[in-house]
Amino acid sequence: MAPVVEREGRRLINLSSNNYLGLAGHLAIEAAMSEGARRGAGSTASRLVAGTDPETLALEQELAAWKGTEAALLFGSGYLANFGVLTALVGRGDAVFSDSLNHASIIDGCRLSGATIHRYRHCDAGHLAMLLESAGDASRKLVVTESVFSMDGDVAPLAELADLADRHDAALVVDEAHAAGVFGPRGEGLARELDLGDRVDLTIGTLGKAFGVYGAYVAGAQVWIDWLVNTCRPFVFTTALPPAVVSGVRAALELVAEASELRDSLRSRAQLFRSRLAALGLDTAGSTTQIVPVLVGANERALAFSEALERNGVLGVAIRPPTVPEGTARIRLSLTAAHTDDQLEQALSAVEAAARAA
Ligand SMILES: Cc1ncc(COP(=O)(O)O)c(C=O)c1O
Repeated sequence: MAPVVEREGRRLINLSSNNYLGLAGHLAIEAAMSEGARRGAGSTASRLVAGTDPETLALEQELAAWKGTEAALLFGSGYLANFGVLTALVGRGDAVFSDSLNHASIIDGCRLSGATIHRYRHCDAGHLAMLLESAGDASRKLVVTESVFSMDGDVAPLAELADLADRHDAALVVDEAHAAGVFGPRGEGLARELDLGDRVDLTIGTLGKAFGVYGAYVAGAQVWIDWLVNTCRPFVFTTALPPAVVSGVRAALELVAEASELRDSLRSRAQLFRSRLAALGLDTAGSTTQIVPVLVGANERALAFSEALERNGVLGVAIRPPTVPEGTARIRLSLTAAHTDDQLEQALSAVEAAARAA
């Protein structure tokens, strides 16, 4: 799918999607979805009632094999997966340790779980260590982080988090929403890329970003997945994914696993893009990935920046509080393997012009 959107009759280069490998609209996925739709438009029931078809189970086995875990479980979306996992795993009397920039779905899950919430400073393992020390009497402890952060494009110190989780007998849950497909030899995510796959208890990944379809999965040991099947409300009390989506994701998984060239090209072009922005004197925060924020600070300036980009043919959406902390409004630019070099050059010129104008 070309990374272009239409706005009021104008075509804009889309630098605001999560279609990191350019797979949304891939012909093989579309064909698989059409084929899948022949099994019915909807799954008609929740999984535990009558909504589990053999294709769904096959996809879960394929996801587990790809992730290198004993089992995997499909969810309706990444929001539901994060929310569901946290509320199923911890409760009153437990302690959850959450990076201060974690996604809203993690925040909501922590809040509704009833566990005591300890927010550690963004990517600050030292602060996490202090908080873990001081929560000695909690029955269960769980550390939760994104691997690639959605609004900053920086990465969590996963090795340090895994060491701390081990030392304090805490579970480690990692949301790979923005790393799945992009990191890892077969797109398994950042934990696998860093050889830490076995040290993460549960991984969450979405199927609506690099996979280009919809839905989400949770992967881990069978015992954890069995627990979720029986206790996780956003799994139990909701209609299963439709057959077309399941078939589409199966096709997408094959493509993702084999997409090393796309991954390499995306990552090297993102690196160049970031360095070109830095050369313009722009602040890309701690980004080291395909998500490249341009920090502008004030909300009004972010809106003006985004409007200037649009005038110059680029969609780069302004992200403001409460999605990001006060005073850190930004343009969140995300690169995909589908962008051409020309499009990225055009985007860089548009950003340069917008920075002058805004
Ligand atoms: C880090 C993170 N986790 C989870 C989600 C939710 O995923 P989904 O869009 O599949 O609900 C998002 C979505 O933007 C996200 O950025």
